[in-house]
Amino acid sequence: MVNSRRMLVVVARVLLPAGLDPLRDRFEVREGGFDATRDRVLEIAGGADAFVADPSVPVDAQLLEACGDGLRVVANFAVGYDNVDLDACKQRGVVVTNTPDVLTEATAELALALTLAAGRRMSDAERDLRAGRWRGWDPAAYRGIEIRGSTVGVVGMGRIGHRYARLAHVLGAEIVYAGPTAKPEVENEMGARRLELDGLLEAADIVSLHAPATAETRHLIGARELELIGADGVLVNTARGTLVDSDALAGALEAGTLGAAGLDVYEGEPEVPERLLAAPRCVLLPHIGSATVPSRDGMARAVADNVITVLEGREPPSRVV
Ligand code: DGY
Repeated sequence: MVNSRRMLVVVARVLLPAGLDPLRDRFEVREGGFDATRDRVLEIAGGADAFVADPSVPVDAQLLEACGDGLRVVANFAVGYDNVDLDACKQRGVVVTNTPDVLTEATAELALALTLAAGRRMSDAERDLRAGRWRGWDPAAYRGIEIRGSTVGVVGMGRIGHRYARLAHVLGAEIVYAGPTAKPEVENEMGARRLELDGLLEAADIVSLHAPATAETRHLIGARELELIGADGVLVNTARGTLVDSDALAGALEAGTLGAAGLDVYEGEPEVPERLLAAPRCVLLPHIGSATVPSRDGMARAVADNVITVLEGREPPSRVV
């Protein structure tokens, strides 16, 4: 008798039609829904041949166990994969994939938008206007920085960091960067200088984080580092919340020892610390770095391509392990 079982793809929460449709054409698809709890995800995971996660879904040994021995691929709907226990996946022979490239432009542009919004005090200004506190043109109010003539420090000169550096350079910034490897192509292209992190924090007027979340980068920016950025400096984080000690950041904004901050990511999302919500000179966005139509559709398609290739026995386009 022919075994006619269709392979099962479990989507922990949601996937856009650009990725869902090609998966549904080929496989059985089971979705947890936007508000799926951990228990719900564990409940629907059983029998999965492929599991689709996103940055809010921890993929650990317990979840892999719940999927069962048939699991062949964890396809993360994101370029970052700090939510996935890579060792646990390797041990079970499960492939892990991500969605690089398609979100580079969107995320770099959002980092630039946050740089401008924080550097020009846009949140405070808009809040005051909406609350009826605007009393007319004021030459002393909301004075910020200009990118032209500033030194921009890029922490993590990967794809997104490089694109962000280019955008800032085109606007007239001098670029310095820190990271584990030298990037001669970036140095040749825009005269960027590689510095140790402390040197970068001291030299830069604007610091933008583009490093992955790892044990080594946890609280890379704490009280001491914020002091180095200084009272006129701007910190932008579109990478992962764990890179910054949020208590220290709120303290520096409250005390005026940091100029401004623009954040798209937080420790413990979707919670945002009360102190940051109340902090002055702070622009806060809800993790929308990759939220453009081409980027999110591209990410969904990449998830589908990764799942399809693995389940068809081929090498996926973007394999992490
Ligand atoms: C990613 O892809 O890692 C982003 O944070 C999702 O927007």
